[in-house]
Amino acid sequence: MKLFDPYGRLIKDLRISVTPRCNLHCLYCHPLDWEQSEPPGTVSVEEVRHFLSAMRMLGLEAVRFTGGEPLVRKELPQMVEAARAVGIPDIALTTNGMLFKRKAKDLAAAGLQRINLSMDAVTPEVFKTMTRGGEVKRVWEAIEAAWELGLNPVKINAVMIQGMNEGEVVPLARLSLDQPLHVRFLEYMHLDNSNPTLYQQRFIPGAQTKARLEQEFGPLERLETDPSAPARVYRIPGSVGTVGFINPVTEAFCSNCSRLRLTSDKKIRPCLLTDLEIDIGPAFAAPHPVEALVDAILLATGRKPAFGNTLPKLRERVMVGIGG
Ligand code: GTP
Ligand code: 5AD
Repeated sequence: MKLFDPYGRLIKDLRISVTPRCNLHCLYCHPLDWEQSEPPGTVSVEEVRHFLSAMRMLGLEAVRFTGGEPLVRKELPQMVEAARAVGIPDIALTTNGMLFKRKAKDLAAAGLQRINLSMDAVTPEVFKTMTRGGEVKRVWEAIEAAWELGLNPVKINAVMIQGMNEGEVVPLARLSLDQPLHVRFLEYMHLDNSNPTLYQQRFIPGAQTKARLEQEFGPLERLETDPSAPARVYRIPGSVGTVGFINPVTEAFCSNCSRLRLTSDKKIRPCLLTDLEIDIGPAFAAPHPVEALVDAILLATGRKPAFGNTLPKLRERVMVGIGG
């Protein structure tokens, strides 16, 4: 069976936020006053298993585990195993990498196939400033661990912020020259409308980042990729890896959206940028949870907006609480 929303978009991708907690405080994602303990009622392994079964019956092709930081949740390997057990073809993780080296073997053994790592800078001081204390060498350890275990592809996410990491564009892109790394430059999204003027000053359009790369490396070669994925992907001629641009602000990709999100407090979020959520706590508690979840997923899919609301507005959840 295939799941389509009212606008004819095929829903085949799920992002599960397994915890709102994170061990970094990236300044574009994680307010300093964000809750640090695991809130009661966080989704359990069994509930993730039921949800994945229901989604698989509806044609789910790919699941991505996110957070907060998903690796602070010790049951993550069991959740990955649940995804494999129900036959999800593509099982991925988005992580800051700080804990990955220690957990990589267990995750790969459970069925993890690939990872996306946040790495906003190669220069240790710049990385430390943007993550409020993170060590970039831990990301390198994560990349090496992923390569050793054959996880493929390994993608890098860099959120571009004026006055912080604009000088990192070329060094980040160079990582793709002779290594199988897929470096994506992300436009900074303003989920928390706390200081619109500062946001305007910090925002860098993806086209500007691309122009900087073409100035350095010459014209980039466009590669064909899944149109429902957020990134537009290119190759610096002759390179092993790729560079990509995720431009949700200047080139909203809603018309190709294929995603649903499950939040760590058991809500289906049909759109990253719209606060509407469907509480599925009752469906998990129903006598036949998988059947009740199928109904809830159909309801949520029916409520996917045509376009995410990108107008500045104070949103109920900040990015760290959704997982991107
Ligand atoms: P793959 O294409 O499967 O590798 O994953 P991905 O790039 O979708 O996942 P990742 O977690 O690496 O997300 C990269 C960026 O895309 C993050 O900043 C996400 O917030 C953003 N993103 C993902 N989905 C959406 C979406 O539906 N809307 C918007 N506006 N941004 C999104
Ligand atoms: N704008 C754009 N991307 C963001 N991320 C976190 N916060 C933001 C934001 N405000 C990215 C992280 C992570 C991915 C899941 O979302 O860099 O790689």
